[in-house]
Amino acid sequence: MNGQGRPCPFCSEGMANMRVGFYQFTPLFGEVSRNLDRVVGTLDQADADLIVLPELCASGYQFVSQQEVVRLSEPVPNGPTTQRLIDLAKRRRMTIVAGLPERGGSACYNSAVVVGPSGFIGCYRKTHLFFEETLFFTPGDTGFQVWDIGSAKIGAMICFDWYYPEAARTLALKGAEIICHPSNLILPNCS
Ligand code: ACM
Repeated sequence: MNGQGRPCPFCSEGMANMRVGFYQFTPLFGEVSRNLDRVVGTLDQADADLIVLPELCASGYQFVSQQEVVRLSEPVPNGPTTQRLIDLAKRRRMTIVAGLPERGGSACYNSAVVVGPSGFIGCYRKTHLFFEETLFFTPGDTGFQVWDIGSAKIGAMICFDWYYPEAARTLALKGAEIICHPSNLILPNCS
């Protein structure tokens, strides 16, 4: 990856020395505070520059009604999940990409927020909804975005977006050096 930092031994450009990871866990459906307690409890022990959390990790994934989605979705960035993640990112000086159900006006999106040591960075709304997600969420309208977090340019897509090559291609053409991919991989060929 080319960014700021140590010189790269393999090319003439600079290379960031980054610690990148993910935290995979089993969110409890509907238990937003408990899920966030778990994320904060774990990441408070982590030494990382960039951490990716699962798709819909604040709420859990398996929605069965629109009412559930409306009840559990939150505004971004002022909702409790994004605010808690911002606190964590500031305290630990890390960038976090995390999935949550987002409420935007009357629509609900399957979204990923990006937060860092200086606060809210951005939000990506899932473009390619999978199976029953189409019953409950509105397709994203943000497009595929890239953010410069200092040590690297990062892009985001969510789970089934992966199935469509144009998602990663668009992020690469926009300069993404790392693609953050919150997922809840329920397809047999995706484990
Ligand atoms: C998926 O998009 N969660 C398969």
